[in-house]
Amino acid sequence: MSNVKISVAKGDGIGPEIMDAVLAVFSAAKVPLEYDFVAMGKGVYDQGYTTGMTDEAKQSVESTGILFKGPMETPKGGGVKSINVTARKTWNTHSNIRKFQTIKGVDTVFSKAGIPINLTIVRENIEDTYGGIEHYMTKDVAVSRRIISRPGSEQVIRSAFETAIKEGYSTVTCGHKANIMKLTDGMFLDTFYEIAKLYPQIKAEDIIVDALCMKLVYAPQTFECIVLTNLQGDIVSDLCAGLVGGLGFAPSANLGDHIKIFEAVHGTAPDIAGQNKANPTSLLLSGTLMLNQMGLEHYGTAIRDALLSAIDKGVHTGDFGADRSASVGTMEFAQAIIKELDLSKITDSDPEKYHKPTMLAQNKMMVSSDETIETVGIDLFIESEQQAGDIATIVKAHLDSDMELTTITNRGTQVWPEGSVFTDLVDTYVVRIEKNTTAEIKKKKFMEQAIHLYDYLNIGSIEMLITIDGKRKYSLAQGQKVNALS
Ligand code: NAI
Repeated sequence: MSNVKISVAKGDGIGPEIMDAVLAVFSAAKVPLEYDFVAMGKGVYDQGYTTGMTDEAKQSVESTGILFKGPMETPKGGGVKSINVTARKTWNTHSNIRKFQTIKGVDTVFSKAGIPINLTIVRENIEDTYGGIEHYMTKDVAVSRRIISRPGSEQVIRSAFETAIKEGYSTVTCGHKANIMKLTDGMFLDTFYEIAKLYPQIKAEDIIVDALCMKLVYAPQTFECIVLTNLQGDIVSDLCAGLVGGLGFAPSANLGDHIKIFEAVHGTAPDIAGQNKANPTSLLLSGTLMLNQMGLEHYGTAIRDALLSAIDKGVHTGDFGADRSASVGTMEFAQAIIKELDLSKITDSDPEKYHKPTMLAQNKMMVSSDETIETVGIDLFIESEQQAGDIATIVKAHLDSDMELTTITNRGTQVWPEGSVFTDLVDTYVVRIEKNTTAEIKKKKFMEQAIHLYDYLNIGSIEMLITIDGKRKYSLAQGQKVNALS
């Protein structure tokens, strides 16, 4: 059997220690892998590589298709993006898979009550507020863009159904907040039920994310596979980590169509770095997920069993165990796992099943529909400390006859034409102008209207109001009545 090459970045802080421990276990299990050690992390960032990786590292990952990485420190200071998030986004690893299972020897409320947990969270990994697209609109108001796309949602939802099939689950649950974020989470939820039709053997259901959290805490055994958008998935996965004993016991895989990243979910633990105290379990479990993904399931299972058996015998680092006093250090933990390895379990794993990525000539454009878009209005984000009625008077005096001022809002709540004096205001209003004719109005005309109003209002940004195939694709303000033409 020939070896498969993967890219390995040891990372910062405890990264090198835990990676060395994991690779020692892999070596003892005779895992048929070859490692291309690449330079990524804070040290590389400090040398002037703003993405936290050298060009050679990027080339290596794009040719092997697999990055096995230790934790990496995010450089401190305004505007610096996380190296980890940059890697996940650059290589479009759209699905973050985290598996949570009861581990014998790791006491939790549920293990003590005899309630087994076996659930997987599939979290969208690229979009949402993690785009980090944020701006100050005025001195008092900052905004974040939450981007949810249909093709992006399709990718992660497909991964969830495929994961359910692989894990032998019968149900996939979509967690969301579509009751509030009707367009973004609404699109994610609609896409979920569309994709579900392709998997009739799996039951599809949905739940609002706050109710999901409550139910996970009192009855986690009722869930199998849960798919969520990025931020909600991030929070719910850490909640689930708590159910099975903490972050150290939950492996993580970032899967894309071409490149996959496997990493520990915890950080660089600077407080214990270089002291042989770190627990390598999270990285080792992520390594077993990697082996499973590469067609090396028998190695993955043998290593996982050896780890569980070492833990069950009471071997542990200082971050867990009954009295939280370490029975061993990092490398000794690895040696204890090696002692438990049963190589006879490894029979017919096949690394040839793993396909390396083919180099793409250009970025893939994902477009999912050819529906008709019409611009029907414009939202103007303005800075003002005036009352809404005064702003309305200014706008109405300078409005095109085909357009009307339909609402003025402050933090999403309507304050004109009707509102309450008990709605506190900040210095950013949204002035909504919509067409009042059934005739089509060119997008450019709305832009010209905005430019005309710029002489009278301090406009910071604008947003077009569109319909797709005649359906309104912008939210109403709290308290806004639907425009006669909408
Ligand atoms: P952290 O996870 O590094 O540490 C939190 C606490 O958990 C510390 O007390 C630490 O000693 C302990 N801990 C973490 N991993 C452990 C292990 N394997 N064994 C024993 N104890 C462990 O989180 P923190 O302090 O918030 O972040 C430190 C750095 O790590 C930051 O620069 C952050 O950006 C980075 N980070 C990187 C991640 C990644 O590479 N995927 C994920 C999270 C944080």
